[in-house]
Amino acid sequence: MLTCRTVAELRGQIGAFRGRGRSIGFVPTMGWLHEGHVALIRASVERCGATVVSIFVNPTQFGPTEDFSSYPRDLDRDLGMCEAAGVDLVFAPDAAEVYPEGFQTTVQPGPLADVLCGPHRPGHFRGVATVVAKLFNMVRPDAAFFGQKDYQQSAIIRRMVLDLNMPMEVVTLPTVREPDGLAMSSRNARLDVDARRRAACLSRGLFAAKAAYDTGERNVERLVALARAQMGEADSVQYLELVDAETLRPVGPLVDRPAVLAVAGFLGSVRLIDNVVLGSL
Ligand code: PAJ
Repeated sequence: MLTCRTVAELRGQIGAFRGRGRSIGFVPTMGWLHEGHVALIRASVERCGATVVSIFVNPTQFGPTEDFSSYPRDLDRDLGMCEAAGVDLVFAPDAAEVYPEGFQTTVQPGPLADVLCGPHRPGHFRGVATVVAKLFNMVRPDAAFFGQKDYQQSAIIRRMVLDLNMPMEVVTLPTVREPDGLAMSSRNARLDVDARRRAACLSRGLFAAKAAYDTGERNVERLVALARAQMGEADSVQYLELVDAETLRPVGPLVDRPAVLAVAGFLGSVRLIDNVVLGSL
């Protein structure tokens, strides 16, 4: 497995893969890898001739009061996991390589970024779209792999690829969960024992609503109330919304098309998000 720190090295190696006729699969991450990331990597390894993983904790997608400095980092551990999963190349640049002196151009997503997490994290999705667009231009993948855990992020990236005519496929894969249902997340490492136990209430709520939906309940208020009733162990619920799976706009009063029930909640100072899809996409 190769490790590159600069865009120039990365381009050279990718050119060599291409020269040998290998298609390129790409999995962008912020590191502290877990089984959710590994599922994306495995899908890429299966489908593509060479798999590139980026590990970069992107400063521009964190707000001034968010957890950029406390975000968990361990490159050696991540490199071991990548190697074991069959990755061909890890790109782990530093911030100055990605944002050199004078950097000023950004990608501003449209209305998909104005809902759910958007209002609570001003500038977050501009940071995400910008870094992902840059990484796509550096790697020039045939396919890129994203997790449904970050449903809104994945929708915004898909839209960006369409809107800006990026010549690649975006693949979204299901959320990988802990045995108690908690969606895997690098941020789970920041939960203390008690918060970790309580964190499962978020997915419990989502699953309760999904079970009701699957047995015929279509009333949005009742579905949301069923979910909320399970979420009392969170320190706060920032939002719990049932939205159209495509536009991310609120659905109601009845769920009459594919929808997503999405939640953001705090366990102590740790903000977690999760979602379930109601209906088939
Ligand atoms: P990160 O949180 O490291 O996630 C990288 C990818 O892994 C994302 O596509 C995310 O949706 C996916 N992922 C995370 N947890 C998952 C789980 N439990 N099951 C399945 N997939 C999961 O998302 C980011 O990094 C950044 O915003 C990034 C896109 C890299 C831009 O900086």
